[in-house]
Amino acid sequence: MYPIAPNYDLVKPFGIKDERLYIGNISVNDLTERYDTPTFYVSGDRFEDNIKEYEESFRQEGYNGNMFTIAYAIKAHTNLALLKFAKNRGTGFDVSYKNELYAALNTGISPDKIFFNGNAKKRAALIEAIEQGVVINIDNLMELDEIIDIQKRLGKKARISIRVNPEIDVDTDPAIATAVKNSKFGLNFNLAEKAYKLAISNNMDVKGIHMHLGSQITNMSVFKEGTTKFVEFAKHLEEELGLEFELLNFGGGLGISYAKNRSEEEKIVKNLKEINKNEDIHSNFYCPISKRDYVKNIVDSVSILNHDVKIVIEPGRSLIGDACILVGRVMNIKEGSPDIVSLDMGANLVLENIIMKNYNNIIIANKARNKSDNHVKFVGNLCYAGDFVSPFGWEMPDLKKGDLVSLMDAGAYHWFFACHGNSVEFPATVLVYKDKEYLIRKRERYDDVFANDVDLDL
Ligand SMILES: Cc1ncc(COP(=O)(O)O)c(C=O)c1O
Repeated sequence: MYPIAPNYDLVKPFGIKDERLYIGNISVNDLTERYDTPTFYVSGDRFEDNIKEYEESFRQEGYNGNMFTIAYAIKAHTNLALLKFAKNRGTGFDVSYKNELYAALNTGISPDKIFFNGNAKKRAALIEAIEQGVVINIDNLMELDEIIDIQKRLGKKARISIRVNPEIDVDTDPAIATAVKNSKFGLNFNLAEKAYKLAISNNMDVKGIHMHLGSQITNMSVFKEGTTKFVEFAKHLEEELGLEFELLNFGGGLGISYAKNRSEEEKIVKNLKEINKNEDIHSNFYCPISKRDYVKNIVDSVSILNHDVKIVIEPGRSLIGDACILVGRVMNIKEGSPDIVSLDMGANLVLENIIMKNYNNIIIANKARNKSDNHVKFVGNLCYAGDFVSPFGWEMPDLKKGDLVSLMDAGAYHWFFACHGNSVEFPATVLVYKDKEYLIRKRERYDDVFANDVDLDL
């Protein structure tokens, strides 16, 4: 093992005062008194700043608000209050399931700012999307057929883009590399051309073209290759089929820095290889690409089209990932080598880390910056031997029962994978914005966990 130390290079408004972790001017200690553990805390200020940074990047490239849409990929962290928060700051939404679609529509957003993704959409959801005028990113030819059928029955044109797969080598964990050959998502260029011909001959309202390369991409050359292939194909389609796309949708994918520098990243990767006994582990933890550079690359790429086009992006992780922490509590410490620290939250809340070999920086919220020679592993409260919250040898202060363990950068996809293993309740979620707190999801109780069981006594 290569011991890992907490990194205190925090993004605003997270900070440390008097050895304590703060969100703005509120300490995590105080929050925990009020909301207990485990709890997700989302910093509205950070979420807002991330949205603004994308927006500002477009404006600096000469794009006004009508020429771009930042569609928050709500799968990253779905919560009704967070959706309204994002919408009120001008975002659109990328949705990938009927309930995400309905949640997005319920915010009252203009439906043309919703982009409906997914490779297996239900008919009812497609009908709703067409009736409301949501833009559907068509994933495959059977879905196209179904939409043509629905369109005829409803007597209403479907607003569509086709999701194309540029088939490149996406440098990220395979579980989140979507634009690779034989991916389950999207159509290769040949099939996509066929799909556009069908869409035109069936009188669909063809709005644009869509791609999504993958997630936690930290290598600019991947974006460069993907956008170039994508826009060249869009141009080819326009010339070949006499189209003029209104929008080009580049998907999401920009990574965040879970590790704050390259050497930290290297250590984590070495640890993961050792823990998983797998030399092929391929994860990115440090992202040197700024939102500005990411946007500039996209804006530059569309200059080969000889008309104005609206640019849509669908960021998830890079909007919410570093805006949220997950705080649990030490339950006990089992001596050994290294010591095993059990928490009141388990792998069911960090499946993102297990499935995608990801990692969260850990800070002891009530003892930040304290030092000792201890090396510990954090395990969860589930009845499952692989139940690691963080398997690395963490250099931690002396820990005691009740200490507050804060997983930083826990905003993206932790909630997505959360499950009820051992019938645990889902945590509460609290939004902290401009030094005020708002409970935006209540902690579940016994009744919530078993709400849908039918208590038969046969
Ligand atoms: C179609 C689509 N768009 C956007 C996203 C968001 O990606 P990210 O959170 O990496 O920005 C995803 C996530 O996998 C996706 O599948």
